[in-house]
Amino acid sequence: MNKHLKMDAPQKRVLDETAQGTLGRPLDRPEGPLKVSGRAAYSAEYQLPNMATGVLVRATITHGRMTSLNDEAVRGMPGILGVFTGERFLRNPAQGGAGKAPVQGASEVAYLGQPVALVVAETFEQARHAAQQLRPTFAGEPADTHPEHAAQVDRPDKKQLDQGDVDGAMQAAAASVDVVYTTPPHSSAPMEPHASVAEWQGDRLILRGSYQMLKYNKKELADAIGVAPENVRILSPYVGGGFGSKLGIAPEAVSAALAARELGRPVRVVMSRQQVFEGTMRRSETRQRLRLAVDADGVLTALEHDARVSNLPGESFSEPVQQATHFLYRGENRRHENEIARVHRTCAGSVRAPGEAVGMLALEAAMDELAEAAGIDPIELRKRNIPDTHPENGIPYSARSLAECLDEGARRFGWGQRDLRPGQRREGEWLIGIGVAAAARPNILSDSRARVTLREDATALVETDMTDIGTGTYSVLSQLAAEMLGLPVESVEVRLGDTDLPPAAGSGGSWGASSSGSSVFLACRGIRETLARRIGCGAEALTLQDGVATGGNRRETLRDLLAEGSIEVEGHIEPGETAKEVSQASYGAHFVEVAVSAVTGEVRVRRMLGVFAAGRILNEKTARSQCHGGMIWGIGSALTEEIAHDPRDGHIVNRDLAEYHIPVNMDVPDLDVTFLEERDDHASPIQSKGIGELGISGAGAAVINAIYNACGVRVRDYPATPDKIIAQLAE
Ligand code: MOS
Repeated sequence: MNKHLKMDAPQKRVLDETAQGTLGRPLDRPEGPLKVSGRAAYSAEYQLPNMATGVLVRATITHGRMTSLNDEAVRGMPGILGVFTGERFLRNPAQGGAGKAPVQGASEVAYLGQPVALVVAETFEQARHAAQQLRPTFAGEPADTHPEHAAQVDRPDKKQLDQGDVDGAMQAAAASVDVVYTTPPHSSAPMEPHASVAEWQGDRLILRGSYQMLKYNKKELADAIGVAPENVRILSPYVGGGFGSKLGIAPEAVSAALAARELGRPVRVVMSRQQVFEGTMRRSETRQRLRLAVDADGVLTALEHDARVSNLPGESFSEPVQQATHFLYRGENRRHENEIARVHRTCAGSVRAPGEAVGMLALEAAMDELAEAAGIDPIELRKRNIPDTHPENGIPYSARSLAECLDEGARRFGWGQRDLRPGQRREGEWLIGIGVAAAARPNILSDSRARVTLREDATALVETDMTDIGTGTYSVLSQLAAEMLGLPVESVEVRLGDTDLPPAAGSGGSWGASSSGSSVFLACRGIRETLARRIGCGAEALTLQDGVATGGNRRETLRDLLAEGSIEVEGHIEPGETAKEVSQASYGAHFVEVAVSAVTGEVRVRRMLGVFAAGRILNEKTARSQCHGGMIWGIGSALTEEIAHDPRDGHIVNRDLAEYHIPVNMDVPDLDVTFLEERDDHASPIQSKGIGELGISGAGAAVINAIYNACGVRVRDYPATPDKIIAQLAE
């Protein structure tokens, strides 16, 4: 049986009427014990008989061509099985998503550190040694390594907006700001490096890899190696973080697959940490200009947000910095200009909350500046500017709890005690301040399928090619099935990460839980209909709890009802009209207290609170963890995170976790996360919205705003390292 729903209209809140009481609870991950005891095998850990190991070799020039592999000497080294390169090798990782083929052809060099070849040997040590000895020859061409000095700058038509008269509104404003913020490139830095084990079984490739969106990855990989998609199977049951860098097939998977086919043996390729930094996706640096104007009532009359970002020549992705700006605040007169500088730097792509993560660093700090210029409390300014309808296309909003998040946060955090004037609180050398920023992230529902089987023994099996990248998919799908089928959560088994299972939305863009969850919900609704028929009542009248069904004046155990056979249903959710008719987003508010050393300019985050509303919360613990992760990244992007490209050749100087500074435990205070009760009937049949990327959105701006409140220093050049603060403090 098949249960399909196209999301063309708001849906009834079925999950508010079920009896099990499992959904939403902060349950532990069912796979947690496997992970902490080392029994959950990640890609690099698979040991296959006769497996060989490959090590990637990278370009040592910035732009040009590889003229010769120069591999004679290396081929004679002990244990070497082959040296591979070619036009099928990936030059850039795939961006991920439908219809985007990865850029191939390893001999064309587009950035320093680009994979150009694979050395395969019996052991890792032999392969690594030979890879280090390999000296391909290159012919260099002129390169552009800095976005401000790039020869080619694109201005795609569909990324520009010009509505009303921004200049006129700026001139007539009661108060305004015109400021430029810059953000550096960021690394996704997943804990698990990219790794693939490729094995051919006849004509069919089995790839154990670490990927986020398997139904797309299967097509990308098939396309890259030149086989039909049905001849590719990808297994990614456990993924140690991705943050966007595993949305699309990367060079290690393609090279492993090609070498394994040629050698007739399984081949494993694991990227080193340096290769992950240099050869997967980075987040583009940005230069953003904000022009904001308010009238005498503090209502925005102009909102302009312009950006220059960068990417490799030919890449279509450009960091969508205005993604939240489009719908978050009022302002009749609006302009967004976008430029993409073509540079020979590591490929830019999606990194957690592409758009908001850096766009809101600028927007929400500029709003803080505007609040001061207008003499209005920053929370009040934001609340006055919540639009009635979408300011750029006029559609209404679905559930939107922004004002409630700001108010609840203000109450919990003690916002009322804040002095509007900066530099008023001092404890010894430390200047103390607090800041606020809004969070917003558009909600996306994505096509997703899952098969649910209710077996004769009253246990359920959920199967989909959905991934769990650390986000909690196993937990959430178990809870949804348990809730709908009236089972203890332990009676639900979830199988993920296998492209032979029904194709899911994958993990990306914060759509994973709602999309795959909706498919499980629909499958379970189909099962409930069959159970209702068996017990003799309408589906609406059926109650399922703890393995017992009640309906039509009968009470039966599920086991008895299942005696006539197990029930299997495939659920399929498809986005529909509600995605166009209303503006859907998750919202929140960040509150931060910092201490700034008047002596060194060092910033310590002392307290941090996030209040979020994202529709129905499916598991309070995994949702909270997502928000923790995002807020921590907010601290990192405000204070320390920055890829440094050498201006001479564009190479990444700080390409490891010692030199690329993500926050560690000592940098992060006890984070407070609160969820507001919300249902979004337009978002999905389970009324949930995306939460994965909500926590990072705006978080760093709240830190920057707190720094200003603490010491009067406004850093517009992220991150706010001590040198920048002390230089301004001295003035
Ligand atoms: Mo996300 S950056 O869509 O994994």
